[in-house]
Amino acid sequence: MENVNNLKEAKTMSLPSPSPSSSADSAPVPGPIRRPDYIQVRKFCFNYTPDVRVLHHITMDIPENEVTAFIGPSGCGKTTLLRNFNRMNDLIDGISHEGLITVDGQDIFDPNLEVISLRKRIGMVFQKSNPFPKSIYENVVYSLRIAGQRDKGILDEVVERSLRGAALWEEVKDRLQQSALGLSGGQMQRLCIARAIANQPHILLMDEPCSALDPIATAKIEELIGELKEQFTVVIVTHNMQQAARVSDRTAYFYLGKLIEMDATKKIFSNPTKKETEDYISGRFG
Ligand SMILES: Nc1ncnc2c1ncn2[C@@H]1O[C@H](COP(=O)(O)OP(=O)(O)O)[C@@H](O)[C@H]1O
Ligand SMILES: [Mg+2]
Repeated sequence: MENVNNLKEAKTMSLPSPSPSSSADSAPVPGPIRRPDYIQVRKFCFNYTPDVRVLHHITMDIPENEVTAFIGPSGCGKTTLLRNFNRMNDLIDGISHEGLITVDGQDIFDPNLEVISLRKRIGMVFQKSNPFPKSIYENVVYSLRIAGQRDKGILDEVVERSLRGAALWEEVKDRLQQSALGLSGGQMQRLCIARAIANQPHILLMDEPCSALDPIATAKIEELIGELKEQFTVVIVTHNMQQAARVSDRTAYFYLGKLIEMDATKKIFSNPTKKETEDYISGRFG
């Protein structure tokens, strides 16, 4: 994919060039520090109403710049947990929680935290792509416009960077002013990814992003997810186990609102520790 190569090139080009003396020096160039517990969830319980508890004492660490997949049968709480990370559930009356979630060390339920600033750090992509009835260009810069950005140079740059990041630039660069609603389903979902990364968030949450797509569009998004983790911490909910196995580094298996097991994806799919996980991944139920 040409645009993905461009992204790689851009990254390579931005690295500082080694000084002549360092070539003799065998000291490795330190990579970025990646936190193994970028998102921390501790004994987290969530109720939609006082007597409807749907998450039970979830404890997990989500590492930075990796892809973490949430799997499990429908209704086991994957979406609910994902939507807590950017406090999307706040909009629902009657909810309550216990326990703790931190993002980059910050308690996301701290009453002093500005939810808007949390949401700026977290982009979200939904099951059904939801482009606005506006041009491709305006879809990408939507949140920047709301924030009052008017500089055309900056907006143009964000559009190109975000569309390249979402592996869509080459396909739409000549029709940025056309309606987003004329794109194919797979293109619309990549446009929603471009919109989600336009603000340069740290985390990208994806809730079954391929479930409405055909296999070719799905393959494209899966390939893209592998590229995105270089820049973002990706958490993806999927009911497609093969997809979790293909795209993720770590997999968390949920059942009836409990986290049954979380481990390296290879381990979960080859040699899970818990029998319940084994039963699920071998297709015995779900
Ligand atoms: N807004 C809501 N109000 C009440 N219950 C809900 C709401 N949304 C989801 N639920 C219930 O919470 C449970 C977990 O749902 P969900 O997080 O959507 O699961 P999953 O994403 O794993 O399919 C289900 O029993 C579901 O019916
Ligand atoms: Mg769901």
